[in-house]
Amino acid sequence: MSTLTAVYPGSFDPVTYGHLDLIQRSTKLFDHLIVAVVSNPGKTPLFTLRERLDLLHKTVEGRIQTTVEVDSFDGLLVDFMNRKNAHVVIRGFRAVSDFEFEFEMALTNRRLDKKIETVFMAPSEEHIFLRASLVKEIAQFGGSVSDFVPSIVEQQLHQKFQDLKLKQNQIR
Ligand code: PNS
Repeated sequence: MSTLTAVYPGSFDPVTYGHLDLIQRSTKLFDHLIVAVVSNPGKTPLFTLRERLDLLHKTVEGRIQTTVEVDSFDGLLVDFMNRKNAHVVIRGFRAVSDFEFEFEMALTNRRLDKKIETVFMAPSEEHIFLRASLVKEIAQFGGSVSDFVPSIVEQQLHQKFQDLKLKQNQIR
């Protein structure tokens, strides 16, 4: 019997409850899920690759009981998918604002490799407007992000911004 593997790619900078919700939903549809952290995102990440992977490991392991693999890739997603023998990409679809970027990415990936299909999943309503960039902005100014990320992620966010502030003060 063949197993159906899906890949959920992203920056995960950092992992949020929205990501975890999607991971949980995907595990019900696929035999094997690979959460793939891009190591060279277009934007400069707040967390290093190792930190993003570590937070994913810690938050996925506690909550999700099935076979979820956490891995990283650089270069093209389709090349990573081929190495993993996977043909399904999972992406979350929150609001209309996501449409253009997501649609473009799905069609580009299929243009690069016609075996690749993208499955869009709707998150739970409470996560519709949850974006890692907003979470970072709130945490940067000392706000609580406990509704959006697990406590270990919140701790790391506050630590990260504290360290950055210390560094900036040393430069001045
Ligand atoms: O969480 P993000 O930042 O929205 O994830 C975007 C990601 C990492 C899925 C996308 O940038 C990606 O697949 N990058 C790898 C490079 C690639 O394959 N580009 C061509 C497809 S658009």
